[in-house]
Amino acid sequence: MSALNIETIVSLAKRRGFVYPASEIYGGLGSSWDYGPLGVELANNIKQSWWRWLVYERDDIEGIDSSIIQNRLVWKYSGHEDTFSDPLVDCRDCKTRLREDKLETNADGKPVCSNCGSTNLTESRPFNLMFRTTVGAASSDEDESALAYLRPETAQGIFTNFANVLNTSRRKLPFGIAQIGKAFRNEVTPGNFIFRTREFEQMELEYFVRPDEAAKSHQEWIDGFDAWIATLGISKANLKHYEQTKAELAHYSERTVDILYRFFPEREEEDKQWDELMGIANRTDYDLRVHSKKPENADGKRINPDSTEDLSYFDPQTNERFYPYIIEPSIGVNRTLLAVMMDAYEERTNDKGEVRVILKLTPELAPIKVAVLPLAKNNDAIVTLAKKLKRDLQPHMRAVYDDTGGIGKLYARQDEIGTPFCVTVDHESLEDNAVTIRNRDTWEQERIGVDSLKNYLTGRLKI
Ligand code: GAP
Repeated sequence: MSALNIETIVSLAKRRGFVYPASEIYGGLGSSWDYGPLGVELANNIKQSWWRWLVYERDDIEGIDSSIIQNRLVWKYSGHEDTFSDPLVDCRDCKTRLREDKLETNADGKPVCSNCGSTNLTESRPFNLMFRTTVGAASSDEDESALAYLRPETAQGIFTNFANVLNTSRRKLPFGIAQIGKAFRNEVTPGNFIFRTREFEQMELEYFVRPDEAAKSHQEWIDGFDAWIATLGISKANLKHYEQTKAELAHYSERTVDILYRFFPEREEEDKQWDELMGIANRTDYDLRVHSKKPENADGKRINPDSTEDLSYFDPQTNERFYPYIIEPSIGVNRTLLAVMMDAYEERTNDKGEVRVILKLTPELAPIKVAVLPLAKNNDAIVTLAKKLKRDLQPHMRAVYDDTGGIGKLYARQDEIGTPFCVTVDHESLEDNAVTIRNRDTWEQERIGVDSLKNYLTGRLKI
């Protein structure tokens, strides 16, 4: 089972401190969300899983962390200044601003306003999605010489550092550069909770390969990401691939495969239940060429007269110099977190006929790995032992102590936030130096000696 719709997760996220509406005390701000105490842990665990898999467990990937604000020329030569826009229309009747390419059509094939159904729409015009800012003490917001952008993707900071990383880490092809960081897009129609926001985090890998190996490497990364996403506990039934058509491909891409998640299971038409979790593109040699000083156009003019670097690669084995192709798996942290929460969501009825929520997060992703609970919060000896167990476990795993309710309520709270194990300290514990361990998924309980508690948990949690 997974969540019936995103709204189920919105409510759980707010109630339990995963995600809150941003600036809520001032009425909020459209499509801005803040991660609460549990959300930040879950997001960090997702990022760590990605980073560990790529940067630590493989031997061919380096990490970087580039600036959000770059020289404006980066966005000129990447193509974002000219082409990173959505086609915008306004509804003359209800004044809603809409993305033309997302509109449904009526029986006559005319696009209709998704808010009021009117066909009285303005002509479409391109709207650049990059957030503008000025750098330094600019004379005015219109001062072109001070104009800069908040990056709309982390990828460009990797391309502009290609030669730096190549030279300082003494790499040979194939190798990759990974980066996790914020990206900003002034989306025309954001929405669906954290699915589409104006500020979001991306986890991007740019994998540099010989041109003749690009197609094969692309397929390997598609398969690789299928496998990594499965380790997050997301079920196969809620995932599928989408091969972008030639018309849909970005200007730099030769082939792009999107991995879709069933974000909208409540929709009647099966086709509309799916949306993009991530994209995996074969960007060809486009990026390293456009940022290089050497390449020339058909008239013999440099395509980039501003760059001071040539980002080509010399292969010592073949004595060839060329611009590497780039395979780019790019995935958003928000969307991954949403898919993980939706997929982990389960409702179960207990003996008393009460419906309980269980978030079946993998132990790796669970914000809290173990909760230590005293059966009697007024008994000093029990409380002292429970607090000591929490402290002893903490260096090895994220542990919490909670005595703010009866044991049934405490178990239910931990189930709802995905804590794999609860440890209960009771009167008997003071006699036999043992505790009860309760399993979130089976609700089964086991008695375990305090001395073997840490090993038991690290074994079960595989940490
Ligand atoms: N460098 C390539 C690139 O940025 P993209 O398909 O535009 O490609 C990659 O973005 C991923 O970033 C998406 O698959 C999605 O997971 C995430 N993403 C993009 N726009 C987003 C938004 N407005 N809100 C949340 N996540 C977004």
